Amino acid sequence: MDFGLTDRVAFVAGASKGLGRAAARELAQEGAKVALCSRDRERITAAARSLSDEDNITEDQVLPLVCDVTDEAAVDAAIEETVDTFGALHVLVTNAGGPPSGRATDVSRDEYREALELNLMSTVTLCDAALPHLRTAAATDDHARIIMTTSVSAKQPIPSLALSNTARAGVQGYAKSLAADVGASGITVNTVLPGYTRTDRLEDLADEIQERTGQSRDEIESDWADQNALPRIGEPEEFAAAVAFLASARAGYVTGTAFPVDGGRGKHLL
Ligand SMILES: NC(=O)c1ccc[n+]([C@@H]2O[C@H](COP(=O)([O-])OP(=O)(O)OC[C@H]3O[C@@H](n4cnc5c(N)ncnc54)[C@H](OP(=O)(O)O)[C@@H]3O)[C@@H](O)[C@H]2O)c1
Repeated sequence: MDFGLTDRVAFVAGASKGLGRAAARELAQEGAKVALCSRDRERITAAARSLSDEDNITEDQVLPLVCDVTDEAAVDAAIEETVDTFGALHVLVTNAGGPPSGRATDVSRDEYREALELNLMSTVTLCDAALPHLRTAAATDDHARIIMTTSVSAKQPIPSLALSNTARAGVQGYAKSLAADVGASGITVNTVLPGYTRTDRLEDLADEIQERTGQSRDEIESDWADQNALPRIGEPEEFAAAVAFLASARAGYVTGTAFPVDGGRGKHLL
């Protein structure tokens, strides 16, 4: 299937490693020009270099940018630099790190505020900064796409991840609202909900559980895998494949959806 991504311009946030890097890689392999950001110059430059080392990705196809997505001015500047460099913006992938774990009554008001800044407000800021360019791209090049990274916890909250549960639900509400407002302009808005996927974030969560419960890493991983219809941990490339489809020309009649890539972890009907 031709995804129609050749020479499209994408911005992927939180992309020095993990799910963001995998999404940036997949879009670049499909022929898109990709700006990728993280908070750290060395890490994001290394990520861009590692992508351009791949056979079918060229150096001028990837643009590493330093940007903390909780810093509005930095987000505005990064989006502008993307458009200045590549001439347009067709695809926005929102993403950032995850908030700390903890049950609802274990985390402080400040931690709730920080989680909302990191995962909800960063999404709003990225979309707000990108929308004028996405509208232009949709008007001149037929369509534009927003894909937001959330979590399975948005559909089926995980008791030990109260901060994530709270912030992701906000993103889902924002995505659905935004989809209704920008559809007539030719922009689709969808969310991708990863389940347990092999990244440093998952390693950090395993460390916390190991410290709290004394369980071995194998036991922790088996517990996670056994919650799924497909009894294993997911790979970042499996998340990235869903992002690439939702970014593609072929996903033209798909908007306002919450797309789980969770190995069948969710036990809800819809
Ligand atoms: N992996 C999973 O199993 C899983 C499941 C459900 C949901 N999620 C969620 O999906 C998102 C990505 O997960 P992941 O597993 O890829 O996490 P990860 O391995 O921790 O990677 C996070 C990425 O985001 C960047 N980042 C963190 N804070 C940032 C900020 N304020 N501004 C810009 N970039 C920032 C990091 O780069 P720098 O450190 O260089 O800034 C890194 O590139 C997280 O929100 C996570 O909670 C993950």
